[in-house]
Amino acid sequence: MWLLERTSRDEDTTRRIGAALGRWLQPGDIVAVQGPLGAGKTRLIQGIAEGLGVTEPVQSPSFVLIQAYPLPGGGKFYHVDLYRLENPEAVWALGLWDLFDEMAIIAMEWPERAAGLIPEPYLRVTLIPLDDTVRHIRIEAVGAFPVERLRALQAMMDQERYTPGSPDPDHRP
Ligand SMILES: Nc1ncnc2c1ncn2[C@@H]1O[C@H](COP(=O)(O)OP(=O)(O)OP(=O)(O)O)[C@@H](O)[C@H]1O
Ligand SMILES: [Mg+2]
Repeated sequence: MWLLERTSRDEDTTRRIGAALGRWLQPGDIVAVQGPLGAGKTRLIQGIAEGLGVTEPVQSPSFVLIQAYPLPGGGKFYHVDLYRLENPEAVWALGLWDLFDEMAIIAMEWPERAAGLIPEPYLRVTLIPLDDTVRHIRIEAVGAFPVERLRALQAMMDQERYTPGSPDPDHRP
């Protein structure tokens, strides 16, 4: 299984890892972002939106569950937050399937709430809090993600440099 791991020591680093991902994403891509409350899922997704060139501020969708943002090149970015989804069946009423068909780019918080219903292949990002500010970040491909694209992502992530204020031990030059 393809796996990329990083350590983030502050929210800005998490945002920048998201932005790198965002620059790599293509129409039809789905990113499931999981981790406990306050892990930094929304921060990472704000970075994804920035990398995609979304200019509107991205907030947590909270009560609406799905928030759409137009992309500069056309098409849409959807920020989905399933935290308040009552049961997996309720996901059908949301119209998520229309989004999947639309070839939009989707980033989803609390994808566990729709377990087994997200079409493969997709990218799964897991944020694991190690203490107040340190997060272990795992990026995995679920299903048969095109190998060339994963190679490109790996190469791009390997080139990312973090500022001295937020050293990344996995990632020194
Ligand atoms: N390395 C880090 N990466 C991301 N956030 C961090 C980090 N260190 C501290 N934080 C703090 O953790 C919080 C993360 O909030 P965020 O809303 O992104 O979490 P979330 O995973 O989306 O939570 P929820 O499940 O409630 O939606 C922010 O207050 C942020 O400042
Ligand atoms: Mg959130």
